[in-house]
Amino acid sequence: MYESGAGDALYERLSAYAASGMIPMHVPGHKRNSGMLGAELPYDIDVTELPGFDNLHDMRGVLLDTADLAAALYGCGRAFPLVNGSTCGLLAAVRAFTSRGDTVIMARNCHMSVYSAVELCGLKPVYITPETDGVSGITCSVSPESVAGAVADNPGCALIIITSPTYEGVVSDVAAIAEAARGRSIPLLVDEAHGAHLGFSDYFPAQAMREGADAAVVSLHKTLPALTQCALALVRDPLAGYDAMRRELSVFQTSSPSYVLLASIDRCLRLLAARGRRLFDAFEDRLRRFDARVGELGALRAIRRGNMAAAHPGFYDLDPGKIVISARGAGLTGPELAGLLRAEYRIETEMAAADYIVAVATVCDGEGYLDALADALLSIDSACPRAAQAPPAPCFRCGAGGGESGGGAAALGYAAGAVAAESVWAYPPGRPIIVAGEVITEDAVREIRRLADAGVTLRAARGEN
Ligand SMILES: Cc1ncc(COP(=O)(O)O)c(C=O)c1O
Repeated sequence: MYESGAGDALYERLSAYAASGMIPMHVPGHKRNSGMLGAELPYDIDVTELPGFDNLHDMRGVLLDTADLAAALYGCGRAFPLVNGSTCGLLAAVRAFTSRGDTVIMARNCHMSVYSAVELCGLKPVYITPETDGVSGITCSVSPESVAGAVADNPGCALIIITSPTYEGVVSDVAAIAEAARGRSIPLLVDEAHGAHLGFSDYFPAQAMREGADAAVVSLHKTLPALTQCALALVRDPLAGYDAMRRELSVFQTSSPSYVLLASIDRCLRLLAARGRRLFDAFEDRLRRFDARVGELGALRAIRRGNMAAAHPGFYDLDPGKIVISARGAGLTGPELAGLLRAEYRIETEMAAADYIVAVATVCDGEGYLDALADALLSIDSACPRAAQAPPAPCFRCGAGGGESGGGAAALGYAAGAVAAESVWAYPPGRPIIVAGEVITEDAVREIRRLADAGVTLRAARGEN
C-alpha cells in the first residue's frame, strides 16, 4: 500500500501515489489511465483567452464547437462547459430559474450545493423526502407521485430540483417526474452530477435531458475521462433560459477558466463521439462479468440491478457503474470494509457510509480492476461469519421533522427537539442529515451517532466532529 513520507511536497506525493499501484475504484473517471488517454498535459497548453481561443463567458468560436458537441451528445438545445464542477452549474441553474422569495420543490437528498443555492437566492424550499430502502438503508428514488403531490400543493412554485442518479447510483423516473412538472409549466432541474456517462449505451439508464428535464448538470470528471472539475450545464430551449444561464454562469464560474480543463472537456466529448459505443460495449462486458461473480457473495451483499426489483422496490433503476456493497450482514462497518480493501487488496473505493461502500467503475478502468474487486470481495466474504439474515436497515428518513427556518441558535449538541442553527452532513455524499432551521428529530440524532460510531466523518457549517 502507498505510504507517504511526512513532509512530501504535494506533486511528489501525488506522483508517488500514482506509481504505488493502488487500484482506483473512485472518481475521477479517467482513472489516471494515461495509456488510454495520453499524457500531454498541461503547461504547453495552459493559455488564457488569446485571439483564436474564444471566451467561455461569451462563446462564439472553438468553445462554442465544444458546447455544440455536448448539446448533440446529451440531446439538448444548449450546453455550457463548466470548469468549476457541477457545483457552479447548480448554483447558476437555480439562480437562473428563480427570483428571490420564490418557492422551490426539492428532494431532501439534494447535494449541499443545491442547499447553498437555495440559501444564496433567498428561496423557500418545499421538501420531497424519498423513502429509505429497508434492506440497504439507501435513499430510494424520488417518486413521481410525491412530485405531483408537491406541485398540486404549491402550484406557484418556480422550480423542481431532484438528484438522479444519486451518489449510490439510484435513478428516478425522470420522464414521469418531468410530465408532472410540465403539467404545471414548472421547470425541472436534474442534478445529474453522477450521471454524465448515462445514455451512451442501452445498458445504462437514459440521460435526464432525453427524458424531458428542462435543465441538468453533469460532472464529466466523476464518471467519464475528464480532469477533475470538468462538467457541463445542459438546458432545453426555449423554456430553460439560455441567456439567464449564461449570465449566472459568469457569476459562479471563474473569470480565468483553465484551457487545460476546457481541452479535457473537449477531448472527453470527442472520444465519446468517436469511440463511445466501443468503450461502453467493453465496459458492459466487464460489468456483466463482475455481476455474475458477486452474485455468489453471502455475508456481504452487492446491491445491483439484477436483484433490484425483488429486494429493493423503492429503486426505479440503478446505474450499473456504481458498485454498492452492503457490509451489514458481514458484521463490518463501511469504513472497516473500505479499510480492508485498501490495506489487504490495494483497492481504493469512493465512499464508505456507516454500513456500505460505494466503488465507481468507468470506461477507463484497467481490464483487471473489476476482477480484482470481485476477487477481494469474495475473499473477504469467505472469511466473514455468514449471518442467516442481515439485520434490517435503520430507516432514517432525512428531514422528516420539518420545522421553521430562522429559529434560535441551538448549538449542535445533538439536541432533539431544538431548532438546528447549522446544517450537518457526511461528506461524501454531501447530503444534509439536518438542515439549519429544522427541528432536530430523535431519528436525526440517532443517525448522526450511528455514522459517528461507524467512523464516518461528519461535517457542519462550522467544522467537523
Ligand atoms: C449529487 C451531487 N451533486 C453535485 C455535486 C457537486 O459536483 P462537483 O464536485 O462536480 O462540483 C456532487 C459532488 O459529489 C454530488 O454528489
